[in-house]
Amino acid sequence: MNIDKRLFAEEYKMKLAFFTYLLLLLLMLQLEVIGPGIFFLTEDLLKEEELDLKKEQVSIKEKLLTYEIDLITEQRTVDNPLSRLVLVNKEQGLAPDFIPPDLIVVDIPFPFAENSSRKKMRWEAAWMLENLFKQAEKEGIDLVGVSGYRSYQRQEEIFKQQVLLRGVEEAKRVSAKPGHSEHQTGLAMDLSTAELNYRLSEEFAQTEAGRWLAEVAPYYGFIIRYPEDKEHITGYRYEPWHIRYVGIEEALEITKKGITLEEYLSPKLVEFSLFSDRSDFKLNYLKKELRE
Ligand code: DAL
Ligand code: ZN
Repeated sequence: MNIDKRLFAEEYKMKLAFFTYLLLLLLMLQLEVIGPGIFFLTEDLLKEEELDLKKEQVSIKEKLLTYEIDLITEQRTVDNPLSRLVLVNKEQGLAPDFIPPDLIVVDIPFPFAENSSRKKMRWEAAWMLENLFKQAEKEGIDLVGVSGYRSYQRQEEIFKQQVLLRGVEEAKRVSAKPGHSEHQTGLAMDLSTAELNYRLSEEFAQTEAGRWLAEVAPYYGFIIRYPEDKEHITGYRYEPWHIRYVGIEEALEITKKGITLEEYLSPKLVEFSLFSDRSDFKLNYLKKELRE
């Protein structure tokens, strides 16, 4: 190797070392710049998530506030809570401490084993429901009880859950506010069938058990309390699973006429309800009261 070539090799090595050093320097600088960048980016995302969470919390608080306000403005307490024909609806309700004195466990199948107030009804309603179930068994109809008596406090929990799940307006169409549920009277029971996996669903109306119930229940004193297309009167969506004890004679008349308990108890309401929609219901109800 001659001297020129050696010098060239030396120079080449130095240049290589220099560029490697430069590259490393740049890399370190890059990390300095990008590193905190990544950190800030993560922090920004965290802040956004935190904001979303706060927004969600505020909206939940708003929903609950609307519910509390509604609760105060709509309270009116019935004076006949122990009557078979007590009318508990959105207009009038039961006192928070009202507990029917003659609640007993209904001897019918339930899809859960534990002892629960949900298995209870008032004595007369329980006895009639047991007879209805005996008839169902004879005819090979598969029915189960899902939910009977509910305390004011239990209904409050259920309604709040529904508000959080659906928002206030939708919740009010499917669930009663505490004090305004028929379940607190001890005269109502929700029923289902194995075919539906014991769910409470509108599909119940199309099952063998649901069709049988709608036809036979009145002979045992029960009505389908929230019929289809009557939301403008009852205030609730169709619930083919919710039966209410009113007595045999009354249940037969209500069912034969295709009316609701509201209409049965306040005949003038029928007249008004023909012209009303859901939002007019309260007004019509008041008008009826003024005319009486
Ligand atoms: N689902 C009925 C309306 C209730 O909550 O009592
Ligand atoms: Zn019900």
